[in-house]
Amino acid sequence: MAAKRRYERTNMKVLTTIADFRRERAAFGSLGFVPTMGYLHQGHLALVERARAECPAVAVSIFVNPTQFGPNEDYARYPRDTARDLALLEAAGVDLVFVPPVEEMYPPGFGTYVIQPAADEVLEGAARPGHFRGVATVVCKLFNIVQPTKSYFGQKDAQQTVVIRQMVRDLNIPVEIVIVPTVREADGLALSSRNVYLHPAQRAAAPVLYRALRAAAERYAAGERSGEALRALMREILAAEPLAKPDYVSVAHPLTLRELDQIGPEGALLSLAVRFDQVRLIDNWVLEPAP
Ligand code: PAJ
Repeated sequence: MAAKRRYERTNMKVLTTIADFRRERAAFGSLGFVPTMGYLHQGHLALVERARAECPAVAVSIFVNPTQFGPNEDYARYPRDTARDLALLEAAGVDLVFVPPVEEMYPPGFGTYVIQPAADEVLEGAARPGHFRGVATVVCKLFNIVQPTKSYFGQKDAQQTVVIRQMVRDLNIPVEIVIVPTVREADGLALSSRNVYLHPAQRAAAPVLYRALRAAAERYAAGERSGEALRALMREILAAEPLAKPDYVSVAHPLTLRELDQIGPEGALLSLAVRFDQVRLIDNWVLEPAP
């Protein structure tokens, strides 16, 4: 009976065109919005739960955005399971889901992009040319389509949160950005749609990212302020795991994301990108300003 009542209350609408989405969205006032690329896990659902708690209605988009993948990246094989995603979103009490086909978002003749040259110089931006141009462009388009009051992003993708906040500020987009803490497995591995690519030995090795970050955070808490000392400590911990091949190891300013020699009053962002064969994992940890 309880389950039936819950089902009767759910009235989730799934829209695939911009025109249909706009029409349904008009029935709501204030709206919380969670953009995703699907293959949902508890990290995504934490964003949805936060939006549910803070907003009278919630919209989620599922769109594997081709413009944010490099030519040699995993766009074609990015995991997809829309039926499962929709069941999870319905159970989470979502009101609107936007699942556009690629041609709806990028019709023939598409030619306007949002670029932040500074973001392309560091961390994920430097490692993945064009990535943040694709992210900022699609999120700007989604904001224009969805017209959210608040939009929710995970701390898991730290540089993405910086890029989105800067875009909203620079382009005067009327949305409040909310950042939600990273959801982790019991062994510390940050949840990611890409974790399904890891074979068992790689999966067993993957918590080394968390261990390296945690060790550096502990060293910071004990008083260490040298960026290089913390980078060296994280490199040393990663080096002890033969399956892990570090791409970058960073101790950066929390807003400019420039590498720090000394951690100052603003604190720092620790971040890592590590390859396990073809699988590239990222993780990060915020060092709060010290009193
Ligand atoms: P996606 O990787 O699907 O992630 C969607 C949102 O979920 C992002 O804000 C991401 O930071 C958050 N997220 C992922 N794993 C998380 C975890 N373990 N804990 C908390 N939050 C987590 O990020 C994207 O998609 C795309 O770049 C997108 C913003 C949708 C633009 O295409």
